[in-house]
Amino acid sequence: MEEKKKYARTLVTTALPYANGPVHIGHLAGVYVPADIYVRYLRLKGEDVLMIGGSDEHGVPITIKAQKEGVTPQDIVDRYHNIIKDSMAGLGISFDIYGRTTSQMHRHTASDFFKKLYDKGEFIEKTSEQFYDEEANQWLADRYITGTCPHCGNDGAYGDQCEACGTSLNATDLINPRSAITGNVPVLKETKHWYMPLDKWEPRLRQWILEGHKEWKTNVYGQCKSWLDGGLQPRAVTRDLNWGIPVPIDGAEGKVLYVWFDAPIGYISNTKELRPDDWEKYWKDSDTRIIHFIGKDNIVFHCLIFPAMLMAEGSYQLPENVPANEFLNLEGDKISTSRNWAVWLHEYLQDFPGKQDVLRYVLTANAPETKDNDFTWKDFQDRNNNELVAILGNFVNRAIVLTNKYFDGVIPAAHELNDYDHATIEEFKGVKDELGKALDTFHFRAALAEAMKLARIGNKYLADTEPWKLAKTDMARVETIMNVALQITANLAIAFEPFLPFSAEKLRKMINLDSADWNKLGSIDILKAGGRVEKAELLFEKIDDETIKAQTDRLERIKQENILKNFTPKAVAPTVTFDDFQKLDIRVGKVLECEKVKKADKLLKFTIDDGTSKPRTIVSGIAKFYKPEDLVGKQVCFIANFPTRKLKGVDSQGMILSAEDADGRLVVIGPQGEVRPGVQVG
Ligand code: MF3
Ligand code: ZN
Repeated sequence: MEEKKKYARTLVTTALPYANGPVHIGHLAGVYVPADIYVRYLRLKGEDVLMIGGSDEHGVPITIKAQKEGVTPQDIVDRYHNIIKDSMAGLGISFDIYGRTTSQMHRHTASDFFKKLYDKGEFIEKTSEQFYDEEANQWLADRYITGTCPHCGNDGAYGDQCEACGTSLNATDLINPRSAITGNVPVLKETKHWYMPLDKWEPRLRQWILEGHKEWKTNVYGQCKSWLDGGLQPRAVTRDLNWGIPVPIDGAEGKVLYVWFDAPIGYISNTKELRPDDWEKYWKDSDTRIIHFIGKDNIVFHCLIFPAMLMAEGSYQLPENVPANEFLNLEGDKISTSRNWAVWLHEYLQDFPGKQDVLRYVLTANAPETKDNDFTWKDFQDRNNNELVAILGNFVNRAIVLTNKYFDGVIPAAHELNDYDHATIEEFKGVKDELGKALDTFHFRAALAEAMKLARIGNKYLADTEPWKLAKTDMARVETIMNVALQITANLAIAFEPFLPFSAEKLRKMINLDSADWNKLGSIDILKAGGRVEKAELLFEKIDDETIKAQTDRLERIKQENILKNFTPKAVAPTVTFDDFQKLDIRVGKVLECEKVKKADKLLKFTIDDGTSKPRTIVSGIAKFYKPEDLVGKQVCFIANFPTRKLKGVDSQGMILSAEDADGRLVVIGPQGEVRPGVQVG
């Protein structure tokens, strides 16, 4: 086994969220909650650690938002920077600094960084053709160009992507490109930019990650490997834009640093801002451990591009680990800022005052560590009621209430421990090692489960020993039991501090534990007999159905609004003649029988009265949307002159017409009044 390197300090960075919208549960579950747990854990152990965060305030999306609202980009970033900063603090995300990339410190740092690479000859200069809007006198970023998607015909495709079919595009691929600013046809003009030759760094990146960091999470390692195996290309690090950090060289007027060049340098500038005198040791000493917490869409930037920039600069350490998470969905759908499909942190804090830890708990228990996961309000309610209230809260409450009841709040001494006491203590002795191991390797879900196990042990201990029954007969035994129960409570106050800091603090106050000391975890000697506990205060309370319904109703409303807002009919197909139309024989039939096709979960087999003496069989792919029995007796339209096709062994003689509803479900088309089977539609 390789010997583990010993570190003197840790620098934790968290992806800088774009200041063009508030943060939501997806950001939290993927980045900020796990990072905060990790940092709080290291602090509990007394380690030297800094947690660096801040807003990412450049980039095209911010300029688009500003333009839409008729305000300046600075207005936008000021607004969201403050919302994000306050809401993160509200959730107890314990940044040592939450900076911004529009600060003077950052401008200088990023600008100097670029200049240093430029002077060292680390960039290549290239001229290429880009779209330009001559009326607006403005270069058009890919997002500023719309047109028809060459793949699916969607008229609202963007220059970087068609959101209808999901294909990524180059602006020059679009059919009929238009400027999103003026609607004019843009012209192609030549422009010069500076590129990082990533191909030059590929061998070192390969060596560093693929050989040197096999321990990285498989999702991270795998993504890096596939990028590296695909071959790295030079990447432009400058843009033609009027929002950003000016390119600090002659002949670059009107150009700024690409947002993904300046943003990660924000980690460095924010560290400088926080520790002007000794920031360098956090970035340049080899006994510093740098950890980047990010979401999966940021992997290439943090594992390949930023490290290549750091290698080119020459004086910085590379990250020791990049524990990127997958995505969190909301009620089965991808979270989306533009569709307002999210639970926004600032709104949560308003709707659920005092319940920060409930959200932290649910997002950790359900964290998308290895695959995408789903947040549902039902799961939120269940975990609160069945886990936080019923297990953790219940145990703590009993321990404190009984101590007050039997001993006036004075912590009793333990006398002789019996076998059951020993067995219980044995069960949680290992908690410190287990918890530590899980946290050290970024397995936050497992770590939380380990802490919860401790609460279960406590709950079971009181339920089994039933001190309330012994109070009349054997007070000495009750003293022992309550001492053990209170020691478990003290353990909980330590174990949960990284996960549920608000509740852990309340708990510490209740048992008069001045500080949480990680080293005491697993011990039954934390509270001294003769000390006092305070009155019991509930850590958690049940969340009722009505509260949950208010949230699901809100989501339902948003869904309805989106349906109305987001539908643009497809472009009309090329003109046909009436003769063309008549070639298609569309008829009405009546469903006589309908059943599922065996071994095909999408197919229904219809037997249709088509007016002839012999019923017609048609197979249709709508099994997901109808119960077969619901269609029997209905009249439907079908195409009568398609050639017979074999589908899963059944001969299908035609096609039943249907249309997609707003939820993507197929609805069968039929006449509005009763007509005779076999009649033609025309
Ligand atoms: N703003 C980016 C995003 O939300 C993340 C930037 S991380 C940094 O995807 F390293 F560039 F700061
Ligand atoms: Zn498309």
